[in-house]
Amino acid sequence: MFKNAIVRTPAPSLVNGITSAPELGKPDYRNALNQHKAYIKALEQCGVTVRILEQDDRFPDSCFVEDVAVCTPAFAMVTSPGAPTRMGEEKEITAVLREFYADIEHITAPGTLEGGDVMMVGDHYYIGLSDRTNRAGADQLIAALEKHGMRGSAVDMKEMLHLKTGLAYLEENILLVAGEFTRMKAFDRYKRLEITEEEGYAANCIRVNDYVIVPEGYEQTKAMIEGAGLKVITVDTSEFKKLDGGLSCLSLRF
Ligand code: GLY
Repeated sequence: MFKNAIVRTPAPSLVNGITSAPELGKPDYRNALNQHKAYIKALEQCGVTVRILEQDDRFPDSCFVEDVAVCTPAFAMVTSPGAPTRMGEEKEITAVLREFYADIEHITAPGTLEGGDVMMVGDHYYIGLSDRTNRAGADQLIAALEKHGMRGSAVDMKEMLHLKTGLAYLEENILLVAGEFTRMKAFDRYKRLEITEEEGYAANCIRVNDYVIVPEGYEQTKAMIEGAGLKVITVDTSEFKKLDGGLSCLSLRF
């Protein structure tokens, strides 16, 4: 069970966040704030206590707080973001994590790692080797996991921003898969729910205790998850989609 979540309020500089889809337009800041509030309510509905961090206008992408840490049951790893405009975002999370963790570790150079590339399946962590996470960063996380009796493995990837852009573990051996991950051997052991190409964005769902939070407007994905016997809450994330962001990036859950 997750007890806690950490989120960071979007800052006005959000409109200048990194995007691979400029054709979607810039986010509307007011809408983004409203969507963020609805997201917090959904997390609370799932039974977690949400710690809301102040906006940080120095970093346009800082509301995507998942990328600056990996929170395991035994320790927290403060990451080292791979995107130049996100480097430094991780500095302030250490003090916040001290409220929850006695053991905090840090990814160090030449390692880079973003939390969006890390998917937890019980005590095993899959780590995507993306443009943001390199082999040295993955190796450091795997070493820290092994020190604490857990395991990790690296996943080669080419197309997606982050591992969890195209994968979501929904517990009960169910894995949502999209794009390049659909046929990947590493995930053969799971009951895979395949996301259609047109609903690719909806692969970024999160299981939080008894619910799966799904982005609003992706009816095939919602029906598929409900068909697997899981309870769904939907949240509109359209403003964050304009920055390649989604439900998982907007919180740390532990
Ligand atoms: N805009 C989210 C990211 O690129 O990290």
